[in-house]
Amino acid sequence: MISSERIPNNVNLAGNKRLQRALEHWQPAYLDWWRDMGPQGFQDHHQVYLRTAVSVDAAGWAHFDYVKLPEYRWGIFLAEPTHDRRIGFGDFKGEPVWQEVPGEFRNQLRRLIVVQGDTEPASVEQQRQLGAHCPSLYDLRNLFQVNVEEGRHLWAMVYLLHSYFGRDGREEAEALLERRSGNSDTPRMLEAFNEPIDTWLDFFAFTMFTDRDGKSQLLSLSESSLDPLSRTTRFMLTEEAHHMFVGETGISRILERSCQLLKEAGFSGDVRKLGGIDIPLVQKFVNFWFSQSLDLHGSEVSSNAAAYFSNGLKGRAEEDKYDDDHVLAANMYLLDMMDDSGRLIRQEVPMRNALNEVLRDWYVGDCQAGVDRWNKRVLEAHGMSDRMALPSRKFNRKVGVYAGKHFDPWGHPLTQEEWDRRKHEWLPSPEDKAFLHSIQAAPVYKPGQFANYIAPPARGINRLPIDFEYVRTEL
Ligand SMILES: [Fe+2]
Ligand SMILES: [Fe+2]
Repeated sequence: MISSERIPNNVNLAGNKRLQRALEHWQPAYLDWWRDMGPQGFQDHHQVYLRTAVSVDAAGWAHFDYVKLPEYRWGIFLAEPTHDRRIGFGDFKGEPVWQEVPGEFRNQLRRLIVVQGDTEPASVEQQRQLGAHCPSLYDLRNLFQVNVEEGRHLWAMVYLLHSYFGRDGREEAEALLERRSGNSDTPRMLEAFNEPIDTWLDFFAFTMFTDRDGKSQLLSLSESSLDPLSRTTRFMLTEEAHHMFVGETGISRILERSCQLLKEAGFSGDVRKLGGIDIPLVQKFVNFWFSQSLDLHGSEVSSNAAAYFSNGLKGRAEEDKYDDDHVLAANMYLLDMMDDSGRLIRQEVPMRNALNEVLRDWYVGDCQAGVDRWNKRVLEAHGMSDRMALPSRKFNRKVGVYAGKHFDPWGHPLTQEEWDRRKHEWLPSPEDKAFLHSIQAAPVYKPGQFANYIAPPARGINRLPIDFEYVRTEL
């Protein structure tokens, strides 16, 4: 069921006229931003088969239909409240959760919400040129699905800013539409969200690894004592799962096709000459986006992370799976660090200060599971000796103890000279990028057809056939 309200919601917006008016005032600015910075060339003359969140009912929260992108019904949906929910960690563990923002934590909470919110429109901006180079209508539709849902995630954060942070919140909501990915004057807040995503291999690696950072952040925010933040992020996670599906299966289908082409060439040929993507090139994009995404978890030792946890604002991902007291007042964590002379050392630090690293541990494990699936289901199944791997956490870092130092993907230290000479063995080079641009130059817009470098998916969307017309042009 599609609600007839201007802003679809399950938060009884109609019962709070002031908030409703504020959000209806923000809505045209959002739509202007979407037209300027959303998918280029697909705003007015294309109908896209999309899912729209219409409730939070587990049995059927999504409605599938054709929609023009600017007419997508971006709404505000919070997961159902949990009866008598209690704070699950930190100094206030066991107390009832908060329905309002405590004054003493207002700045910290606003910061957490703004940083999360900033990533959502950023990725839409990063991906806005990809439609002109898509490998199929199926993939084009998935790109737009990810884009509209990132737009909805922006709405989710803006709802919190407007509801709980007064005038500062409204100003932050406006600023979220003013920063621009990659802009030197007004960039997005985090580095990975200022990198261009101009090839489909970038897109798949980004949705695999950077959207998965989103998943780890949302999981830790869903533990929050601020109940509306918890409920908002819990529902966002249901949408987020599809984004990582797009990334994981996208890379999987590229590897699948590479294996087929290698076999056709009798294992001796150059896959690139056959218009496919060689496995080492896929590995370079894994190296790049994984290392960028590791940075998003912040410094290994962080007093902010400690404060967020102590104050109950941000827990660990899947907090209830940790077999400890969830207070962590006296626990220690063994960290790989570097001393002033650049020597690697192990150091014990209070667990609360190491919580960025704890979340990074969770994240690396979740990524590794995906990489294992590629190896088992594709490379092993095709009898290949190649394997995909995550690079060392030390590789290509810009944040934390390894920032500014150089390591190869196995974690061996390199001199500046070695790094400069060898970095394109492990990271995409301008030539690699040019090659990818050449094979995606001609988009594939015919239903059921796929670019030569990617295998078709195992099945279509919402049980529809693979050759369904997922995006159609209006005449
Ligand atoms: Fe998101
Ligand atoms: Fe996402």
